[in-house]
This record gives sequence, structure tokens and C-alpha cells, in this order.
Amino acid sequence: MKIIGISGSLRRGSFNTALLRAAVELMPSGTQLEIAPIDQIPLYDGDLEASSGIPASVATLKERIVAADGLLLSTPEYNNSVPGVLKNTIDWLSRPSADSARVFGGRLVAIMGASPGAYGSVQAQAAGLPVLRRLRAQPWFGGRLAVARAAGVFDQNGVLVDETVRAQLRDFVHGFAQFVAAARAAKSPSSA
Ligand SMILES: Cc1cc2nc3c(=O)[nH]c(=O)nc-3n(C[C@H](O)[C@H](O)[C@H](O)COP(=O)(O)O)c2cc1C
Repeated sequence: MKIIGISGSLRRGSFNTALLRAAVELMPSGTQLEIAPIDQIPLYDGDLEASSGIPASVATLKERIVAADGLLLSTPEYNNSVPGVLKNTIDWLSRPSADSARVFGGRLVAIMGASPGAYGSVQAQAAGLPVLRRLRAQPWFGGRLAVARAAGVFDQNGVLVDETVRAQLRDFVHGFAQFVAAARAAKSPSSA
């Protein structure tokens, strides 16, 4: 089983990318988490789409998501919402609209996040939900992970050093993987 992870931060020292990297190591056996970069995704521009179509970086990411069983978003919080780079990526992935259902329709999605502040990106996570509803994705509500005071949770190399958060992250990704596996089994019972 494969899950694609996207971090909503381009920052080299990003806590959210570090959280995804830690999640890679904590996935249950038989489930692989692959982190897909978004640093090559251009700003959405309808003129660019009209003249050149979907950029190669977007098309590649689309196919990675389509080929996967689930999508894990790790989002920072910017002004109580989803950062522009993540929303921009989702907007591109939803184009052309006739292809949006293939990428997002029924897509199993989990949202987690980290912030140096006290609330761990909860408002950004909530702000992502109307977007997923619009795209007819299927968010997982069985767990919640909002890593607060992130500067004390990761070391200077971005390694997760807080054992409580590590246990929370393990529970979160295992819960999502179970949800994805159950949905997969329901779709094709013979492969269960
Ligand atoms: C434009 C901007 C707005 C921000 N707004 C919030 C906010 O509303 N809540 C919050 O907890 N942190 C906020 N922050 C701080 C981010 O949580 C912090 O920069 C965090 O490290 C970003 O995630 P990253 O480490 O994955 O890059 C903001 C940062 C920026 C640059």
C-alpha cells in the first residue's frame, strides 16, 4: 500500500517536512509513505494553462497521487489558514476540472501539521477541509495530530526527538493506514 505525503512548506528546515520524514519511518509494515516535493510547481496562472496546458511538475504529481492509495498532507499554518504554496498545488492538481475527479474524487486524505506556536496548525488543518469537500475527497477524521511548540520537538537537523509526539505520530499514521486498507478491501474484497 502506498501513501503520498505532501508538505505545505518549501523551507529547508520545515517542521512539517520533518514531520513527514519522521512519519516515513513509523508507517506500519506493508505501507510505504513517499514524500512528493512541490517546489517545482509554478504559481497557478490561467493564461499559462491555456497556452501550455498542465505543467510537467503538476502532471507528474497528479499521476503519483492517482497511483497511490492515500494522501497525507502536513500543513503549516499561515494566518490561520493553509499556506499559499499548498493551496496553489491543490489548485493546479484540480485542473483541468474534467480531470479533478480522477485525482481527488473519493481520495482518502489525512491532514496533520506542526507549528512553533501553541496550537500546532489546527486552524490550517480545519481550513483545508472545505477545499477537500469541494474536490469530493474523503478526509479521514479518525485521528488528529497538531504538533505544537515544534521548535522543541525536532532537533537542529529536523529529527523528531520528542517521544510523546513520536507515539502520537505513530498512532496517527497507523490509524490512517488502517482506514486506507479498509477502504481498499471494501473496493476489491479479493485483494484484502
Ligand atoms: C506568513 C506567515 C504566517 C504565519 N501565521 C501563523 C499562524 O497563523 N499560526 C501559527 O501557528 N504560526 C504561523 N506562522 C508561523 C509558522 O507556523 C512557522 O513559520 C512554521 O515554522 C512554518 O512551518 P514550517 O516549519 O513547516 O515551514 C506564520 C508564518 C508565516 C511566514
